[in-house]
Amino acid sequence: MSAGSSPSGAAGEGAEDDSCGGDTLVWHPVLAADALPEGSLRGVTLGGLAVVLFREGGTVGAMQRACPHEGADLATGWCASGRLFCPRHKASFDARTGAVSSGWSFPPPRVFPVRLADGTVHVGLPKR
Ligand code: FES
Repeated sequence: MSAGSSPSGAAGEGAEDDSCGGDTLVWHPVLAADALPEGSLRGVTLGGLAVVLFREGGTVGAMQRACPHEGADLATGWCASGRLFCPRHKASFDARTGAVSSGWSFPPPRVFPVRLADGTVHVGLPKR
């Protein structure tokens, strides 16, 4: 599956409700955990949101796919040293928090909770 495609199970198929910090989340099963090897990124669409999944430092994360600077596709960037790098101007984002690298003055990307269950990556999105 290439970046930009919607995997089977996305966009609410098989989603289940949960809550986290007072927000109600809908957990979306996205793809098999072993389909996201270390250092890889994958662009997906979940519940109408463009999201980039990645595995960096052994941790799977998810954040908004459009760079908050000028909208570059973060799924075509890269991961290294605990950070996700934008391919256009090379700003980087903390893989866990989305914090923007120093020297930039735009807000961080949205970061979404991820959990692994039964060998599958699930992403939690706010219930609409
Ligand atoms: S578009 Fe991502 S850093 Fe500029």
